[in-house]
Amino acid sequence: MKLKMSDYEIIVEKNSIRGLSKHIKSFYTYDDLFIVTDENVDELYHDFIKSVLNEFHLHIVVIKAGEQSKTIATYLDVISQLMDKGIKRNHLILALGGGVVGDLTGFVAATLYRGLPYIQIPTTLLSQVDSSIGSKVGIDLPKGKNLVGAFYHPKLVIIDPVFLDTLSKREYNQGVAEMIKAGLIANKELFNFFKDTKRVTTKEILMAIEVKRTVVLKDPFDQKERMLLNFGHTFGHAIEKKFKYQTYKHGEAISYGMLIALEIGIKKGLTPKHLYESIRHTLEMNGLIKKPYFKIEDLKEDIKTDKKFTAEAFHFICLSDIGQGVVTQIKVGEL
Ligand SMILES: NC(=O)c1ccc[n+]([C@@H]2O[C@H](COP(=O)([O-])OP(=O)(O)OC[C@H]3O[C@@H](n4cnc5c(N)ncnc54)[C@H](O)[C@@H]3O)[C@@H](O)[C@H]2O)c1
Repeated sequence: MKLKMSDYEIIVEKNSIRGLSKHIKSFYTYDDLFIVTDENVDELYHDFIKSVLNEFHLHIVVIKAGEQSKTIATYLDVISQLMDKGIKRNHLILALGGGVVGDLTGFVAATLYRGLPYIQIPTTLLSQVDSSIGSKVGIDLPKGKNLVGAFYHPKLVIIDPVFLDTLSKREYNQGVAEMIKAGLIANKELFNFFKDTKRVTTKEILMAIEVKRTVVLKDPFDQKERMLLNFGHTFGHAIEKKFKYQTYKHGEAISYGMLIALEIGIKKGLTPKHLYESIRHTLEMNGLIKKPYFKIEDLKEDIKTDKKFTAEAFHFICLSDIGQGVVTQIKVGEL
């Protein structure tokens, strides 16, 4: 299945990675190809990728796995390694890995020689349904996550669920959390899928991508509709930060954040009370939350450091129903 973005395509299909060479050759005439990946993905897929791309001369840069690599230091190191390997303007870079590799490599591609073509090949569920869609690339600073970056379109995104077979359960669940969120804000059928614990298929991946694709096309630069994607994220980010990004993974943190957003919505009269139990149960069953849950009071001070926060009021996403996210304004005093 091919999905159209403004000027590139997203291919979502099992085993689509096997057609990668053909796709590259449709627009690229050089023999040299540059790949950035992380150590885990390299260990698992090095030989496979070499066989898929055997018509090219590959130059592979391997970074350490995890958020610790989304830094200026790794950014400079990747650029230096790519230059040592002979990368020139118009050479193509492949980002093969999860959201960390995708964000960092996209930022390298956006900035090296003022922009090189690149392809996103997301290999985690979270990166397949979320970070590889929407062209946001960037790195973290000591002052906070994703503070330096750009909007930079890839030439192509290839989403192959085959990569998910090697993902740990916990990493897989982080993608499930974003898919549940996508279902809650815009697709009831997608949310309902997670009421039993089944493995996701291409169909659900497509549904989640469609939710993100639709808002990104309406709001490419994150000024308005894209805010909906932040359901659960205001308090989720506060939880991640409070625990120094160690205790809770992103999907877990936003799951607690979604519960708090439901409580706030109920308090404001926007969210029907009965939604809470069904969503709570679904998040718990998918291994994303466990008791005791966070209370608003525990996090009130922490959300003030959220970059979306302004002194008087801030945008906050609530649900008016399953599949119906709404943007509202909240005053700190209301919490
Ligand atoms: N650009 C965006 O719009 C956007 C949106 C959401 C998240 N993000 C970013 O995405 C990042 C998180 O992405 P992530 O959750 O993919 O994390 P990640 O890239 O750190 O990957 C998680 C772990 O899975 C491993 N891994 C990757 N693919 C694998 C596979 N197929 N089999 C086995 N192990 C595999 C990685 O080595 C890593 O250890 C964060 O930095 C976040 O800020 C960006």
